[in-house]
Amino acid sequence: MASLIPVSDPADPRLADYVRLRDVNLRKSLEAEHGLFVAEGEKVIRRAVAAGHPVRSLLMARRWTEPLADLLDGLDAPAYLVDDATMEAITGFQVHRGALASMERLPLPSIETVLSGARRILVLEDLVDHANVGSIYRCAAALGIDAIILSPRCADPLYRRAVKVSMGAVFAIPYARMANWHDGLGELRAAGFTLLALTPAQSATPLDKAPLGDRVALMLGSEGDGLSSHWLDEADEPVCIPMSPDAMSAGVDSLNVTAAAAIACHTLMR
Ligand SMILES: C[S@@+](CC[C@H](N)C(=O)[O-])C[C@H]1O[C@@H](n2cnc3c(N)ncnc32)[C@H](O)[C@@H]1O
Repeated sequence: MASLIPVSDPADPRLADYVRLRDVNLRKSLEAEHGLFVAEGEKVIRRAVAAGHPVRSLLMARRWTEPLADLLDGLDAPAYLVDDATMEAITGFQVHRGALASMERLPLPSIETVLSGARRILVLEDLVDHANVGSIYRCAAALGIDAIILSPRCADPLYRRAVKVSMGAVFAIPYARMANWHDGLGELRAAGFTLLALTPAQSATPLDKAPLGDRVALMLGSEGDGLSSHWLDEADEPVCIPMSPDAMSAGVDSLNVTAAAAIACHTLMR
């Protein structure tokens, strides 16, 4: 059973896993150094535990011990109990979902392992926004995508905000990270995937008219620049989601990448 430990000093070193959760640079280096990530909220914590991530510790208000009693019973980790002001002083914001868990990362599987048996996958190139990455995992889980492949520089799906926005879908969809951006798509093609590059360019083939092979990879580009010219060249076909003819004159030249992912995944379900 987890040991319940009241703590009142925000500078207590036992709470170091939870400091300044909104400081992206600090969190990136701290989490990489210790191989951890932070799960926020009861549902997400339960999903992370169910996915096999060992719990380093929990941090929560005492009122959460009851709803989480069954989980705490099965854990061999400290649960630090703090009041709301101490929680805010440590984390840097008001934690509305009440409970946080510091969890251990597991080694990522190889691309080969993740692709085995997959027919529909997403490939994300250099997305920077953690909320977009989390939302895309949630769409993927809801709309029948089997796996996700990340470019080497794509934002971390286990960053707290991505985990939270995904509502735990980051634990449901198998994913792997390419080691090599330049040649990374070659492995997908060699595995028999048709590479469809999603672009807002309305001269591209409309996605619902694109030839879908047995195995399809939908490539999505970053929020600012979109897909790199190298990846567009490497693709088998550039494809677009047709937009309203009035969009351009209204100053709208693309969809948000999450919206594009949702529409594209749904189209692939046909
Ligand atoms: C905000 S857009 C990037 C806009 C960028 N200026 C460009 O030209 O690609 C981010 C990503 O969402 C996808 N996307 C956005 N609108 C799309 C559309 N109408 N059709 C297909 N993909 C779209 C693409 O993968 C794109 O790389």
